[in-house]
Amino acid sequence: GRCVVAVDGPSGSGKSTVSRRLATALGARYLDTGAMYRAVTWAVLQSGVAVADAEAVAKVASSVSLEIGTDPAAPFVRVDGVAVDGPIRGAEVTAAVSAVASVAAVRQLLVAQQRAIIADAGRIVVEGRDIGTVVAPDASLKVYLTASAEARAQRRSLENATDVAATQADLARRDRIDSSRTVDPLTQAEDAVVLDTTAMGIDEAVARLRELLDA
Ligand code: CDP
Repeated sequence: GRCVVAVDGPSGSGKSTVSRRLATALGARYLDTGAMYRAVTWAVLQSGVAVADAEAVAKVASSVSLEIGTDPAAPFVRVDGVAVDGPIRGAEVTAAVSAVASVAAVRQLLVAQQRAIIADAGRIVVEGRDIGTVVAPDASLKVYLTASAEARAQRRSLENATDVAATQADLARRDRIDSSRTVDPLTQAEDAVVLDTTAMGIDEAVARLRELLDA
């Protein structure tokens, strides 16, 4: 039957790794909504419009064709047929993504696409910032993953080979922008299960979520 798992939380909380592994374990599809915001940001930067120009940003977003893979074994994202998996993880996109994601028209567009993908998949683990609250409020299970600011920065700096202090400052900046929208996408759904992964391994987090699904 249908099974939608919403996994929300800030950067470095373990969202991506945990969501992907959970999807594999469940034989479900996997959707990384952050990759969609990053891909639109990549297109905006390519187009040369200023990220602060909301109207121009919205125009770029609605003019490109975005394709995202939902196989947890082989995620991919394409903009107008071009694979952008590498560039969307780069520093330029990371620096601009929160600004692009704060444009209401961009969110409307991507939320509609995300809902269509979820409806089509039936069984899917979806990760992001607003999945349990906005994209899939009727999800079978809602999880809010967190970890201490130090642990999150440490994980990110290990992944990206960047300085821990600088990474922590950048995550704090992004969390601040992500939380300052009219509808705060970092708000937890009231019915979300909070899982603090500061001192928790990935296997343990995945096992805990599987228990919750079985319960
Ligand atoms: O990888 P990381 O957790 O740092 O971020 P991400 O999941 O790739 O998302 C990048 C950015 O996209 C976030 O900082 C948010 O600004 C935005 N985002 C969003 O607004 N809504 C989502 N559902 C997912 C991402």
